[in-house]
Amino acid sequence: MKRIVLAYSGGLDTSVAIPWLAEQYGAEIVAVTLDLGQGKELSDVRERALAVGAVRAHVVDVREEFARDFILPALQAGAIYEERYPLATALGRPLIARKLVEIAAIEGATAIAHGCTGKGNDQVRLDVSARAMQPDIEVIAPAREWGMSRPEEIEYARARGIPVPATVDSPYSTDANLWGRSIECGVLEDPWAEPPDDIYTLTRSPAACPDLPAYVEIEFEAGVPVAVNGVAMPLVELIGSLETIAGAHGVGRVDMVENRLVGIKSREIYEAPAAVVLHAAHRELEGFVIARDLERLKRDLGRTYADLVYNGLWFSPTRDAIDAFVAKVQERVTGTVRLKLFKGVCQVVGRTSPFALYDHGLATYDAGDLFDHRAAVGFIKIWGLPIETMTRKAARMSNAEC
Ligand code: ARG
Repeated sequence: MKRIVLAYSGGLDTSVAIPWLAEQYGAEIVAVTLDLGQGKELSDVRERALAVGAVRAHVVDVREEFARDFILPALQAGAIYEERYPLATALGRPLIARKLVEIAAIEGATAIAHGCTGKGNDQVRLDVSARAMQPDIEVIAPAREWGMSRPEEIEYARARGIPVPATVDSPYSTDANLWGRSIECGVLEDPWAEPPDDIYTLTRSPAACPDLPAYVEIEFEAGVPVAVNGVAMPLVELIGSLETIAGAHGVGRVDMVENRLVGIKSREIYEAPAAVVLHAAHRELEGFVIARDLERLKRDLGRTYADLVYNGLWFSPTRDAIDAFVAKVQERVTGTVRLKLFKGVCQVVGRTSPFALYDHGLATYDAGDLFDHRAAVGFIKIWGLPIETMTRKAARMSNAEC
């Protein structure tokens, strides 16, 4: 009998997908639910999958793997899509694909399935990632095929005794993991409409934030954040604690219109308090310890890296190669960054590193200045020579015309 491994969230779509796949493909369905730090109670998800017809249901905590193998490389690369989106959802997809393919091999399944629709980026990320690892695997996306409207889907569920959660009335489509949360649909589809405050769950409205700022010191060792305010923590906990502090000060909200891979512009709301703070800190420290040309090159590659992640090309030689470059740069990214969090704003207010290229003697305007002011004269002469030459030439030509 055909066996399909389904990425099961516990929500309505993937609950309906279990009997739908079983009926359409005459298959056994194995449900897989991953804990990526979405913060949802997963205790009864196994029972739910079995109740709607899965033959087996696995629940796997992959938070550490997610942080180490996906979030950290993206942080170090400075991967922020279109200058705003720290890529939480996009980074989760290749890991989900990896787990589905691994479990399919263990289960002897020839196909995997997921709940994505045919309109977004997530289907691309899951399908391409799965086939990058196992080119022969069949990838099925029921919601892309079944052609049911929302009411029809609810009817389908009721007819089969699938419990329809009360939250199905929520007009929003959300996705969450350790690195942040994305919110789409409903009133948010009007790019002119301000998002209602109740869509946010990780961040406090700036108006309701404390009147005193919080200071956070993040310590990095070779590009890895290792401690917050002097307390050493493993990465998963560190991200969690920054989420709490930054969220309480309203930091991490993003409202943007982004370019989807499938050619659509879409209005997206993100809350990513930990990601916003960590990217700000990491970027600051890196810039403090590497030279200008390398810093520029690194930023350009960060944009390329973000595009790769966004566009579903995580498992690609291009990303491997950029990772090697980024790893080389991280060797010097050791030190501490001090940030001020206040009513929705995150500001770097201090940085220190044993590798700092900042030299007080060169930078100061006070006594102790070591910069050779006289050397500037010759430098400027040669630097401006091409411009000066053009002006002289233009003057000669217009004189000749008279
Ligand atoms: N636009 C974002 C992205 O492409 C978020 C997608 C949210 N996905 C979801 N299934 N709700 O990464």
